[in-house]
Amino acid sequence: MTSNKSAPGTKPQTELQTRSVLPGFIVFEGLDGAGTTTQARLFVERLRAGGAAVVATAEPTDGPIGRRIRAVLSGAEQASDRTMAYLFAADRSEHLDDPNHGVLAELHRGRYVVCDRYLFSSLAYQGSLCGFEFVRMLNAPFSLPEHLVFLDLQSKAGLERIKARGRSEIYETPHIQDTVYHGYRQALEQFRDSTMQIHHIDGSAAPEAIAEEVWSRIAIAPIH
Ligand code: TYD
Repeated sequence: MTSNKSAPGTKPQTELQTRSVLPGFIVFEGLDGAGTTTQARLFVERLRAGGAAVVATAEPTDGPIGRRIRAVLSGAEQASDRTMAYLFAADRSEHLDDPNHGVLAELHRGRYVVCDRYLFSSLAYQGSLCGFEFVRMLNAPFSLPEHLVFLDLQSKAGLERIKARGRSEIYETPHIQDTVYHGYRQALEQFRDSTMQIHHIDGSAAPEAIAEEVWSRIAIAPIH
């Protein structure tokens, strides 16, 4: 007998769990200072060394909307938290759909696309600042990566690393980073049963050790 009710003890599937996945798309996420930029770079270098065709990219992008976002992040311009949620979603839409160098076009050409931050940053940062449900809805049109690497580093350690850089952005305060950390945990929990593969990795180890761990988790046979 069939029934559209869930079996006892199982939760109904949500939109977050059934969203489509883009094969070959790999995303790095974490708090500020968690090492997403370094780890994305090391992963790209290793893929390329194995002969794979790889595109390295990041959000916010360096396009017009991304530049506007960076002006707000640096404190040079102002925007409300809700406006920032819209700007990040608009930047993401361009990033995915640009017919020449967008993520979808590059994946279609058979390249891997490795991205430093994606919609999980919006869920964690903007979700914490102006409501998870609002941000989830704004990001509902965007497909998931095949692999999500979450570099787990608590805010204190991340902020210590940032201090050494000598410049700071509007989200780099202990209070916001603590809230965003919980935002990430909440977001990852919601995607737990999706077909995207989530790699939850301790971000406090040495960069080379983390890179090794990431590599061992993502078993990819290079294209060619
Ligand atoms: P990042 O590029 O990692 O910072 P940096 O240039 O200093 O290395 O990210 C910029 C900031 O933008 C970071 O604090 C996270 C934030 N962010 C959001 O709040 N929402 C988003 O959707 C994205 C992609 C980033």
